[in-house]
Amino acid sequence: MKFHLQTFGCQMNVYDSESIAGILRAYGHETVSTVQEADIALINTCSVRRGAETRVLGQLGHLKTLKSRGIIRYIAVCGCMAQKHGEDLLKERGYIDLILGPAALSRLPCLLDRLENHDGPIVELSQLDIEDRDDFVPNDGPISYPCFVTIMKGCDRRCSYCVVPDTRGPERSRSPQNVLDEIRGLVDRGYREVTLLGQTVDSYRYDNTDFVGLLEKVNAIEGLRRIRFATSHPADANERLLFALRDLEKVCEQLHLPVQSGSDRILAAMRRDHTREDYLRIIDRLREIFDGISAAHQPAISTDLIVGFPGETESDFEETVDLMRRVRWDSAFMFKYSIRPGTYAATLPEHLDEETKARRLARVIDLQHETSREINQRLIGETLEVMLDQPSADKRKHSGWDGRSRQGKTVKVAGVSPDAQPGDILCVRITKTTSYTLFGDVVSYSVR
Ligand code: 5AD
Ligand code: SF4
Repeated sequence: MKFHLQTFGCQMNVYDSESIAGILRAYGHETVSTVQEADIALINTCSVRRGAETRVLGQLGHLKTLKSRGIIRYIAVCGCMAQKHGEDLLKERGYIDLILGPAALSRLPCLLDRLENHDGPIVELSQLDIEDRDDFVPNDGPISYPCFVTIMKGCDRRCSYCVVPDTRGPERSRSPQNVLDEIRGLVDRGYREVTLLGQTVDSYRYDNTDFVGLLEKVNAIEGLRRIRFATSHPADANERLLFALRDLEKVCEQLHLPVQSGSDRILAAMRRDHTREDYLRIIDRLREIFDGISAAHQPAISTDLIVGFPGETESDFEETVDLMRRVRWDSAFMFKYSIRPGTYAATLPEHLDEETKARRLARVIDLQHETSREINQRLIGETLEVMLDQPSADKRKHSGWDGRSRQGKTVKVAGVSPDAQPGDILCVRITKTTSYTLFGDVVSYSVR
């Protein structure tokens, strides 16, 4: 069968989509780049905010039209919305052929066989409470960065606004053996950088291996040059992790540590299990540990912020703004609170109006933009280690390559030799910056 796969949502979904494509290809199915060419349209969905669900429902409407015109034959919905809405989705939208939860991906090939045998529609939800910690599927996509490797599934935290524990189930860590095998396979295929993924990676544990233990094992893989990881949780990030960022040479100096709010009152209502002070203590300690180290190896810190949580007063919001000024994150993902049915936060009184949420969001975005711009500007004249990803797509504006610094910042590099390849690591002198991008010239080729 020819299949077309569209992905909504987070990095975990990107990884799952690569796995879906990998499994289907292994069973002889063929990827196509436009949905019109496909027999089956698969959409990998996200439930984390209402906007994501609305976009998926819009796309489903479009697929329904294609199916009724006979252009595609089947429609499959995978991922978090499938898990969350299950049968209801099918009741409301009878044209869907397959609904598949995020932990049931490995059953996809036999479910497609069942569709071909007119045994549909099918609802296959994941048994999220069962022990499926080694039920991970290898990804075999074409070489492109970032390259994600899931090290754990689910989440045991209960942030009051979040659907993830319901859609992805309890936390299950994957065995180090399994993770290392997958990464060695990727290195054999030419990958030189991996990003380890989990909702709260720093609570990873498998028998006697904790997250830093896993990082040490991955760091020892020959041929691998760089390791990144996301997402960390402030209640689990310990001192060993901060030292690992400095001392494990392949671990890139990048920490994504969501704080969500700067107000202790709101953090408690969010059930975050950390205070503003706890967060600041981690940041201050990290900066202390990196004191005296060159700019090329200073850590970049990023966060997620939610504004307009139920009951957030102007003064709570000002505390978030104040925390932004105090921490000065390199970058931030900023969201308006989105009500998610079934979560505790949805039942709280004092939901804020859209206008207030939008105003607060615009203010944090402006401030972050300014901070990112200033932080990046200070990098002008510094020499950074950049790994090449691909030749720049925008040939008119930039004829060089796109790459990333160890801190995960996008760098547009000029003066790259014609025989350069993705995965090459170069020393690049930064000449110009914006809030989101650095520009620079090659100074030297480091080891290939
Ligand atoms: N509303 C807004 N943002 C949310 N996030 C999770 N749930 C919600 C919600 N209901 C954000 C958090 C989280 C990121 C992945 O998505 O900031 O860290
Ligand atoms: Fe959601 Fe909180 Fe778990 Fe992150 S840590 S996935 S925000 S419940």
